[in-house]
Amino acid sequence: MDLLKALRVRRRERLRRLYERHKRIHALLKEHGEDILQSSNFKGTRAHIQHGNMTVHNHCVDVARYSLLLNKKLGIGCNKHDLIRGALLHDYFLYDWHDKAYLANRQRLHGFHHPMTALQNAEKEYALNDVQRDIIKKHMWPLSVIPPMCREAWVVTAADKYCSLLETIGVHKGHGAQAS
Ligand SMILES: [Fe+2]
Ligand SMILES: [Fe+2]
Repeated sequence: MDLLKALRVRRRERLRRLYERHKRIHALLKEHGEDILQSSNFKGTRAHIQHGNMTVHNHCVDVARYSLLLNKKLGIGCNKHDLIRGALLHDYFLYDWHDKAYLANRQRLHGFHHPMTALQNAEKEYALNDVQRDIIKKHMWPLSVIPPMCREAWVVTAADKYCSLLETIGVHKGHGAQAS
C-alpha cells in the first residue's frame, strides 16, 4: 500500500515538473517570439507539411522548444532571444515542398536551397542579427558545407535533426495540414 502511494506521489511530482517545464517554455516563446507566432505568414505554415503529418508550423515551434531544452540540459549558455527567433524562422521558406509543381522542378534541391529562401523571407519581415542569420543559413549543415559559426546555430541544427527524425519515423505525430 505504501509502495503504491509512493508511486502515485512520484508520478504526480513528475507530471507537475513536466507541466511547469511546458509553462516555462511557452512563456519564453511568447516573450521572444510572439510577433512571429502571431504573424499571418507564420500561421500560414500550418497549411504545409514538413515530415510525416507534422506541419512546418509545429515543426518550427518544436525545434524552438527542443533547442531551449538542449541549451538548458547541457548548460550551453545560448542567447535565448536569438535561439528562439532563429529556430522559429529556420524553415521560413513559405512554400509546400511536397507540391506537385514544385516536385516537378526542384525536389532534389529543396534540402540545399531552402535555408537561403527562408533567410530572404525572414529578412523582409524581421530585423535579424548575425546569430539569427547563421541559425537559418546553416541549420542544414553538413549540406550547407560551411559549419555553424555560433553555439545557437549548433543547437538549432541538432534540435532540427532530432525533431525531423522523430517526425519521419512517426514518433512525433502532427495533425496534418490545415487550410490556410
Ligand atoms: Fe530546414
Ligand atoms: Fe527544420
